[in-house]
Amino acid sequence: MVVVDEEGVGGYLLCARDTRAHEAWVEQHWLPGLRADYSLDVDRSPADQEIVELLHSPQIAPDEVVAEFPAHLHIDLLSRCRGRGLGSSLIEGLCSFLTGEGVRGVHLEVGADNEGAIRLYRRLGFVDLGRGASSLYLGRRL
Ligand SMILES: CC(C)(COP(=O)(O)OP(=O)(O)OC[C@H]1O[C@@H](n2cnc3c(N)ncnc32)[C@H](O)[C@@H]1OP(=O)(O)O)[C@@H](O)C(=O)NCCC(=O)NCCS
Repeated sequence: MVVVDEEGVGGYLLCARDTRAHEAWVEQHWLPGLRADYSLDVDRSPADQEIVELLHSPQIAPDEVVAEFPAHLHIDLLSRCRGRGLGSSLIEGLCSFLTGEGVRGVHLEVGADNEGAIRLYRRLGFVDLGRGASSLYLGRRL
């Protein structure tokens, strides 16, 4: 789903309903071309290198998270679109859709220092599922 206002696109909500199937599709269809285009042994900035390393060694959600919460989501709104209830209503709309599709849970990964977003997710019924290197996994049963 995409948020659009008079200035143009202001945000998105993405979801894969089956995380493992999505990871397999990405590995088969998407990453081979990107790895060929962005090899590891090129001089680039540390920030770019960090992203390129993710193409070669993607982070995979933990089994215990995916088993109970097979869908996952990503949401980002530009600052002009934040704090007006759009994030909450996009996530509620997605959860209703996934429930109708028979999906039993959805998870997300959020930076451990992103306190505002974590507070919002907890208010929307997401519970703590564990920690990544510098992130938290949160999930909501549907
Ligand atoms: C987190 C985010 C999706 C929430 O959507 P939203 O439409 O701003 O949220 P709502 O208006 O429905 O709810 C407001 C709540 O969002 C939280 N929030 C998080 N980041 C915020 C920001 N930059 N501005 C305003 N609210 C923010 C606040 O905690 C607020 O709750 P509060 O009233 O307890 O302070 C959105 O603010 C955003 O995209 N932020 C930047 C990118 C990001 O952090 N993405 C999440 C990565 S997992």
